Amino acid sequence: MRLLEAARLAPSACNRQPWRFAVALTPEVRRRIVEDGFLPGLGMSWAREAPVHVVLGMERSVLTHGVAAAVAGVDYPWLDLGIAGEHPVLAAAELGLGTCWIGWIRPRILRRIVGWPVTVRPVAVITVGYPRDADPRSTTGSRRRPMDELLRWL
Ligand SMILES: Cc1cc2nc3c(=O)[nH]c(=O)nc-3n(C[C@H](O)[C@H](O)[C@H](O)COP(=O)(O)O)c2cc1C
Repeated sequence: MRLLEAARLAPSACNRQPWRFAVALTPEVRRRIVEDGFLPGLGMSWAREAPVHVVLGMERSVLTHGVAAAVAGVDYPWLDLGIAGEHPVLAAAELGLGTCWIGWIRPRILRRIVGWPVTVRPVAVITVGYPRDADPRSTTGSRRRPMDELLRWL
């Protein structure tokens, strides 16, 4: 609930809060998510071992998908979902838990597994568990682009 609360409090364009969450705890539902709800090819059967799967869904909104996106050229609900998904990831790291975003999904099948209406589109799954590495943040630094490739001071 601490992770989900961090997600619920995320900011969003026009405060539309387009996110929905489904939490799979039971082994049978997690098995279906991994075997049927993920696309093949990336070898993600390891995800069955993660004790919690959070399915992130997006509720379609005419205001932010249609009007604002057309005017600004930015599809805000996708941005909102990224923020709302990363909040629990950061909260998990604070608690010493490990997470992994899974975007290689079959949205229609996942929607059926979760039982959402057609207005909610599954966007990603975030697995939560106990990392083998004691510090889940310890390996990330070296695998990132150096700052001078990314940053421009003006
Ligand atoms: C939007 C998004 C989608 C991702 N999809 C997958 C995925 O489908 N399968 C997977 O194993 N990892 C996936 N990842 C994890 C990335 O591969 C990983 O974060 C990246 O390689 C950096 O590794 P690190 O976070 O361990 O440093 C995804 C990450 C993000 C942010």
